[in-house]
Amino acid sequence: MPRPIQALIHTRALSHNLAQVRQAQPDARVWAVVKANAYGHGIERAFEGLRSADGFALLDLAEAERLRALGWRGPLLLLEGAFEARDLELCSRLNLWHVVHCEAQIDWLAGHKTAMKSQQGHRVFLKMNSGMNRLGFRPAAYRSAWARLSALPQVDEISLMSHFSDADGARGIAHQVATFDRVTQDLGGERSLSNSAAILRHGAPPLRNDWVRAGIVCYGSAPDHPAHNAAHWGLHPAMTLRSRLIATQQLQAGDTVGYGSSYTATADQRIGIVACGYADGYPRHCGTGTPVLVDGVRTATVGRVSMDMMAVDLEPVPQAGHGAEVTLWGNGPAGTMLSIDEVAQAAGTIGYELMCALAVRVPTSAVD
Ligand SMILES: Cc1ncc(COP(=O)(O)O)c(C=O)c1O
Repeated sequence: MPRPIQALIHTRALSHNLAQVRQAQPDARVWAVVKANAYGHGIERAFEGLRSADGFALLDLAEAERLRALGWRGPLLLLEGAFEARDLELCSRLNLWHVVHCEAQIDWLAGHKTAMKSQQGHRVFLKMNSGMNRLGFRPAAYRSAWARLSALPQVDEISLMSHFSDADGARGIAHQVATFDRVTQDLGGERSLSNSAAILRHGAPPLRNDWVRAGIVCYGSAPDHPAHNAAHWGLHPAMTLRSRLIATQQLQAGDTVGYGSSYTATADQRIGIVACGYADGYPRHCGTGTPVLVDGVRTATVGRVSMDMMAVDLEPVPQAGHGAEVTLWGNGPAGTMLSIDEVAQAAGTIGYELMCALAVRVPTSAVD
C-alpha cells in the first residue's frame, strides 16, 4: 500500500473561482495565470478547471507547449517574455504573446526574421515599471520603447502593461495607476494592470483593464490574507492535501515530542502521527499550534515537523485512531475545510508558497 498522503485538485473549485473573477471584473478578459506549474496544481489539471479563461499567462516556453499540446488555441502570454533571442522562434511558431520589459528584448525582435510567410507577427505587452522596480521600462523611458517597437515590422500589436506592488495592502495602487495613466494616456492598445488582489479590492472603474491577470484567486487562496480570508471573497480551495494517522502515542506529563523536544506534555495527552512532513511540502516552520483537521475536527500540531511525519493533538478527537483522515489544508470530510492561508500564516508565509512547494512525491489527482 502506498503512503497514505494525497493531493486533490478540485476542478469545479477552479471554475468557480474563475467565475468570481469575472463577477469582480465583468468588463475585462481574464488571463488565468498558470506559471509555476499552475501554482503547484499541475498545468494539465488546472487547465481542466480553467479552460473557460480567455487566455493563459505563464513563464516557461515548455509550459506553453504543454498547453498547446492540450489543444488550447487561444491566447498565451509569456509574463517575462523571451529569455534569449532564439525564444522568439518558438513565440512565432506557437503564436505566443510576450511581454517586452527591457531593451535587449526589443533588440532581439529587431533582429528576428519571421521565417515563413504564414507565421504571424509578434503581439507584445510592453511593461512599465510604475513602481514595483522588478521588470519594465521606467516611465521616462516607456514612450521611446513604445516608439521603437511600433517601428518594427516584426511587431503586429502593442499592448500596455504594468504590475502592482501593493494591491493587497494599505498603500494600494493609486500612485502606480496615476503614473501609468499619465504616461500612456494618448497611446493606443489594450491594457493589463490587475493581479488577483487588484481584481478583488480595486475592481471598480476608473481603473481600466482590457485584460486582468488572475493567479492566486483562481486557486482559492485570499490574496490579502489575513485582512480578508478566502470565504470573504467567496473562493473555494482548489487544492486539498490530506493524509492519515499511521500511529498514536499516549503521552504522560513531562513527555516530549519530536526532534529538539520542542513540545512537552503538561498532562496526559493522546497524539497522532501523520504521514506528512516537509519532504511532502508541508512547511517545517509551522510550530506547535498550527491548525489541522482530524476526521474533520479542528485540532493542532504538536512539536516539530520532520521530513516524513508530524504529530497532532488528539484531545479534541477522542475517537480518532490509526488510519483517521487528516486534512493538512483544503477540504475535509463532511463539508469541513481548512484554509491553506491559515497554515501559511502559521509558517510565516503565504498560501502561494505552500501550493508551489507541494512535493512531486505526493500523488496528485484531479477531482470534480
Ligand atoms: C506579472 C504578473 N501578473 C500577474 C501575476 C498574478 O499574481 P496573483 O497570483 O497575485 O494574482 C503575477 C504573479 O506573480 C505576475 O508576476
